[in-house]
Amino acid sequence: MRHLFDQAIDRAHSDSIRWDKYGSDVIPLWVADMDFQSPECVVQALRRRIDHGVYGYTYATQSLKESIQEYVNRRYSWRVETAWIHFLPSVVTALHLTVRMLTQVGDHVLIPGPAYHHFQDAVIGAGRDYSIYNIRLQDGRATFSLSQLESLVKPNTRLLMLCNPHNPGGTVFTKEELSTLGQFAKEHQLIICSDEIHADLILDEALQHIPMGSIGGGIEDRSLSLMSLNKTFNFPGLGLAWVICPNPQLSQVLLKDLHTLIPNPNLLSYIATQAAIEHGQAWHQALIQYLRSNRNYVQQRIHSVSGLSMHHLQATYLAWIDASKQSWDNPFEQFLKAGVALSPGSQFGDSQFVRLNFGTQRMLLEKALDRIALACNQ
Ligand SMILES: Cc1ncc(COP(=O)(O)O)c(C=O)c1O
Repeated sequence: MRHLFDQAIDRAHSDSIRWDKYGSDVIPLWVADMDFQSPECVVQALRRRIDHGVYGYTYATQSLKESIQEYVNRRYSWRVETAWIHFLPSVVTALHLTVRMLTQVGDHVLIPGPAYHHFQDAVIGAGRDYSIYNIRLQDGRATFSLSQLESLVKPNTRLLMLCNPHNPGGTVFTKEELSTLGQFAKEHQLIICSDEIHADLILDEALQHIPMGSIGGGIEDRSLSLMSLNKTFNFPGLGLAWVICPNPQLSQVLLKDLHTLIPNPNLLSYIATQAAIEHGQAWHQALIQYLRSNRNYVQQRIHSVSGLSMHHLQATYLAWIDASKQSWDNPFEQFLKAGVALSPGSQFGDSQFVRLNFGTQRMLLEKALDRIALACNQ
């Protein structure tokens, strides 16, 4: 099925944030969506629903909840009850809601860094005190340090946020690491909010995603796993996320004001998600192979450019590239001048890095990496 992902699709005039921001001379490898069409099963299911012509108020059916229940069991060997699954329009909404509803003014939150910017936006937006725990390279893999977490935790810390797999940096946390975090949370009576949107984008064959709530030992009572198929099947513009929260007291507080300020997810997002779960397996396997090959290619090209480096990415299609040896004030600007729009590392907490989205056709990636190499050799 490789040819499917090699096929370039013109995204100009499709109101794409990623493709419309810079001129047509720039290759846009920034925002995290992919240049691939969603699987045919998703497109067909949407077409059938569109053809109905009536798009009234809707809801997440029991059948969708059972599909998710089956999916989570099939993919992560996690047996959940359908009553633990709650729907929101996006994972970002869930991050912000978690901070606002599960902590109070005066509480302190631990967030990872460098990390997807909405962790910090959520705590700043809610006016909460926070500390950043580092996700730093240790033996070629970016991870946290328990001793640093111990030094940052305060008597008023209520919430520990986690990004698993991590963006940027692609770490897939091991069972041991998650148990360590779980024990730490138990000792300090913290809630753990785990953003698992990249769970199905694991590129290393030997690795497996482990949801925070599946660790056991009572950690499930204090954990929320935020999930979505938006990234995996490339329909983030439709928008659907779900929270798995085994503790009903916690979910009651989290969702107290839901559907006043936050709308229900849209009708098409439910249809797309269910079709992807039920019929998207072969497409997903082919996607992972394609992305793995792109990842290997990006790693090899970046290693060959003097002044650039990246560590091995276990998951996601977002390479985290260290440009500090170039001694540029702003690596993002340098690459933009060379005709490639990457995400500036400053957005995640380190301005000497850039993030490159390789969820695109190999031919475009080759062109972009040629421009990147040229920018560094000048
Ligand atoms: C870690 C992480 N969480 C959440 C999101 C966005 O999720 P959503 O589109 O469901 O709000 C992204 C998108 O890049 C992400 O990387």
